Amino acid sequence: MPETSRPRVGILISGRGSNMAALLAAMQDGRVEADPAVVISNVPGASGLDHAKARGVPTAVVDHKAIKPREAHDRAVLDVLREHRAQIVCLAGYMRFLSPSFVAAYRGRILNIHPSLLPAFPGLDAQRQALEAGVKVSGCTVHLVDETLDHGPILLQSAVPVLPGDTVETLSARILEQEHRIYPEALALIASR
Ligand code: GRF
Repeated sequence: MPETSRPRVGILISGRGSNMAALLAAMQDGRVEADPAVVISNVPGASGLDHAKARGVPTAVVDHKAIKPREAHDRAVLDVLREHRAQIVCLAGYMRFLSPSFVAAYRGRILNIHPSLLPAFPGLDAQRQALEAGVKVSGCTVHLVDETLDHGPILLQSAVPVLPGDTVETLSARILEQEHRIYPEALALIASR
């Protein structure tokens, strides 16, 4: 299939990158009609970088501590995405709020995964927020990114039960399993349009 029919995907991470791994596997085994372009971490030494390299995907580090302010860091990330001709951007545990100019550069083509049923519990520690609120159902959401944190058109959600005795760890693990399922599905939706 010619490259033009398979969009190129840049993935931004800050840590272990298990969602990144799910996306790479889905693209590389043909479940998602898209190609990995580059994996970028804002954290040097993020363990997800090793996994990407092992899968033969180009990686880059754009250290937010070395490039300030936020707009300059975002410009540097955009430069790497463009260098690798990324057409879609997936945030996968990327612990940075994107500046409006970044959102504008890839509007409608930036996806994020969040471990709650948005609009409930945006921001940090979503699973802890859910437990503290006493909800009986939580889950995860893949959405298009706009200028507001953990906000934008919802692409897919998956609900999971909150069980008696759940801790942040047990609930997070149950949600993560669903994250790895719905993120590739949501990417497939955007890649095919
Ligand atoms: C996931 O729970 C994701 O929903 C949230 O950060 C976590 C990242 O995990 N945005 P991983 O790096 O993909 O393993």
